[in-house]
Amino acid sequence: MKLIIVGNGGHSQVVQDLILELNDHTIIAVLDDQILEGYKLNNILYESTLKLPVLYQDEVQVVIAVGDNSTRKKLAEKFNLPPEAYATLVHPSAFVSKQAVLGHGTVVMANAVINAGSLAGNHVIINSGAIVEHECKLEHYVHLSPNATLTGNVSLKEGVHIGAGATLIPKVTVGEWSVAGAGAVVTKSIPSFQTAVGCPARLTRKIERIS
Ligand SMILES: CC(C)(COP(=O)(O)OP(=O)(O)OC[C@H]1O[C@@H](n2cnc3c(N)ncnc32)[C@H](O)[C@@H]1OP(=O)(O)O)[C@@H](O)C(=O)NCCC(=O)NCCS
Repeated sequence: MKLIIVGNGGHSQVVQDLILELNDHTIIAVLDDQILEGYKLNNILYESTLKLPVLYQDEVQVVIAVGDNSTRKKLAEKFNLPPEAYATLVHPSAFVSKQAVLGHGTVVMANAVINAGSLAGNHVIINSGAIVEHECKLEHYVHLSPNATLTGNVSLKEGVHIGAGATLIPKVTVGEWSVAGAGAVVTKSIPSFQTAVGCPARLTRKIERIS
């Protein structure tokens, strides 16, 4: 499969590395609006995202490799491609249960574990070493940072960001676009549009709603 990568920052570097580990995918273009003048390097075209409609064809898929959840959503809305246009990528060292379901444009990084009955929506990032235990539900545009742990039956609503090394105990829900800080231990559900940090996690500041 030929792939177009959107984004050329740090998260994109890790996604590109993941793709190098897969034998059946080739990156044909990296698109980022910071690239003012297009160029080709090692057979990969570097261009602005304006080139996407020209490059997106049959037998080509796209990955939005941008770590920030709201930016990922804005880009997906702007491109307005069908969900199947987006590749689902899993690093060969990750374990994904056959009873788990991953959405379009979702990436699972090295050493992550996704156990039975868990569901991840579209454009979700399950980062290096993160653990998603049984029957968790991750809605679209969630980002689970490195080494974060969701124990069983955890629910993350759209756009949630769980910081590195955070742990969520069973059955908690994190409301849409909320953030659990790095290292947080989430023992109670977090409402939408809130930041929570610490052990046990406490609500700190409100998050502005994205348009
Ligand atoms: C929680 C977070 C989003 C910052 O939120 P914020 O509202 O902007 O917080 P601020 O940086 O203004 O800090 C506010 C207070 O919270 C504290 N704080 C921030 N992050 C914290 C954390 N993870 N744990 C405990 N306390 C934290 C700060 O020390 C500060 O305390 P003070 O008021 O006593 O000085 C951020 O610190 C964080 O943890 N992000 C996750 C990063 C991550 O894991 N990225 C992975 C990318 S792959």
